[in-house]
Amino acid sequence: MVKSIQSLRGMKDIIDDDSKLFTYFIENASKIARNYGFSYIQTPLLEETALFKRSVGESSDIVNKEMYQFIDKGENDVCLRPEGTAGVVRCFIQNKFDKAGASKRWFYNGAMFRYERPQKGRLRQFHQFGAESFGFSSVYEDANIIMMIKDIFNFFGIKHKLVLNSLGCSVCMPPYKETLVSKLEVIKDDLCGDCNKRIITNPIRVLDCKIDSCKELLKDMPKITDSLCQDCNKDFEQLKQILTKNNISFDIDSNLVRGLDYYNKTAFEFVSSEIGSQNAIAGGGRYDKLVEFLGGKATSAVGFAIGIERVLELIKYSDINDDVYYFGAMTDEGIEKIFSKSYEFKAKNKTLIEYSSKSFIKHINNADKLGATIVALIGEDELKNDTVFVKNLKTKEEFTIPFKDFKN
Ligand code: HAM
Repeated sequence: MVKSIQSLRGMKDIIDDDSKLFTYFIENASKIARNYGFSYIQTPLLEETALFKRSVGESSDIVNKEMYQFIDKGENDVCLRPEGTAGVVRCFIQNKFDKAGASKRWFYNGAMFRYERPQKGRLRQFHQFGAESFGFSSVYEDANIIMMIKDIFNFFGIKHKLVLNSLGCSVCMPPYKETLVSKLEVIKDDLCGDCNKRIITNPIRVLDCKIDSCKELLKDMPKITDSLCQDCNKDFEQLKQILTKNNISFDIDSNLVRGLDYYNKTAFEFVSSEIGSQNAIAGGGRYDKLVEFLGGKATSAVGFAIGIERVLELIKYSDINDDVYYFGAMTDEGIEKIFSKSYEFKAKNKTLIEYSSKSFIKHINNADKLGATIVALIGEDELKNDTVFVKNLKTKEEFTIPFKDFKN
């Protein structure tokens, strides 16, 4: 017998109810992004490896340990994208939007690849819904992005907590790092091996260590939020104020440093207490230096990405209003009226309409075969009384109501 081929570890098919949920999420999150002034962008899955090395950072785990990197047939060093921001920034520069001083707001969704150890909520191929905005230095744009994520989560009824930090800038971060390193040197023998490596390669990442004994020792380290320069401090205070004024609650965590090196000023994560240890459902922040760092003209930028698989764990398919409506008439005279009613439903729900009159039972069987969940019919009595007969094929509930009162 030939051994059947399985999907790769950490890579999943998305089928049945999961695929319905997946498209439901993308469609509605996209609509919200558009309402916020973002338009859709698609960039390639494969990019030059150097793009990620330079943007995400040589010392990050993503670049160091997790890249799907290979040499292609043309001897190019390429890599399956581990995240979406770098490609979008490359596109912004390549199309000379930086030179034109253009502001752009883009959203995207798609597969990302990280060679991590798979576990619940952690895949090697996963999907993100993200957005990047360029050319807005105002901290109101940081708030705009955070509000958009909140609107997305609220739309799907996803409970969440916002965690906020400021990572300073090229003025206040370097002296802070120096102080931090001097303090870390004192306790380094008691820190784990990874922390010891990071003291040299990327000291602020030490603050993010998940090992309990390290966490305990790191509690007494100086906080970046106490060392911010005037400009960063002003922005951070203003962001907190804007969020508070708009009833958006948050926690400040000065150890939130993020796993990607391009951030400055605002950094944030949204976490859920309902999905286990991989609890970050979205992350993002400001990256005002990245466009310039990748060879473009200095441009302010801020963005985020939501982990789609993680948020789909928090939405139940049964909670979605995905009713399919079936409209029909038992007499030819009823067709015109039921056709008009079906028009009221099409904007919100999948709606089927039968153009020829049939018996009640034929309509019900037909609707069932077509996958309808709600059947709305007009017979002689309904026409006379200006009513409509409605049957829910899932719950078997049925009733007759005034024609004008039947709405979705
Ligand atoms: P990130 O925090 O690395 O940020 O990823 C964003 C989200 O993707 C995470 O919060 C998580 O929900 C999801 N995620 C990450 N890794 C995995 C995995 N292995 N399996 C399943 N889900 C995962 C970024 O990628 C930045 N590009 C976000 C950004 C955009 N910052 C500015 N603009």
